[in-house]
Amino acid sequence: MQIAIGSDHAGLELKTEVISILNDLGHEPVDFGTDSPASVDYPDFGEKAASAVSTGKTERGILICGTGQGMSMVANKFRGIRAALCNDLFSAKMSRMHNDANMLIMGGRIIGKDLAKEIVKTWLSTPFDGGRHCNRLDKINAIETKNMKGESQL
Ligand code: RB5
Repeated sequence: MQIAIGSDHAGLELKTEVISILNDLGHEPVDFGTDSPASVDYPDFGEKAASAVSTGKTERGILICGTGQGMSMVANKFRGIRAALCNDLFSAKMSRMHNDANMLIMGGRIIGKDLAKEIVKTWLSTPFDGGRHCNRLDKINAIETKNMKGESQL
């Protein structure tokens, strides 16, 4: 699977590990930077990777910043993106089973490479449960469409 990946300086070290994990698993990471430890703004890199997933250039995406919070905020601005901040295994599993998350976000200053490896493996291998959860995802899509049309006021 082609997987967009990006980070800021705080996520660079873990991003490098995750790229190697993805290659070992037989996936094709598409790296949107950053490439150096120099301080950068996470929205610039989150935007590139989230855009690739939102437009269907890649099926899934992974973003890493210091905590994962900023990258989550950026990714979830994009149409069709369901970005899940997962710094633990249970969240990674549930974000696939119940939310059909198409982007995984992690905090490079929170988790180490061994936990990240398990999170990535779990997140990529866990299928969506479907069923009652489809209706809920439809409702998320409906909210997104309403917001785009400026009709979000209840
Ligand atoms: C960078 O210092 C840090 O703010 C960023 O990596 C991220 O944690 C933001 O949410």
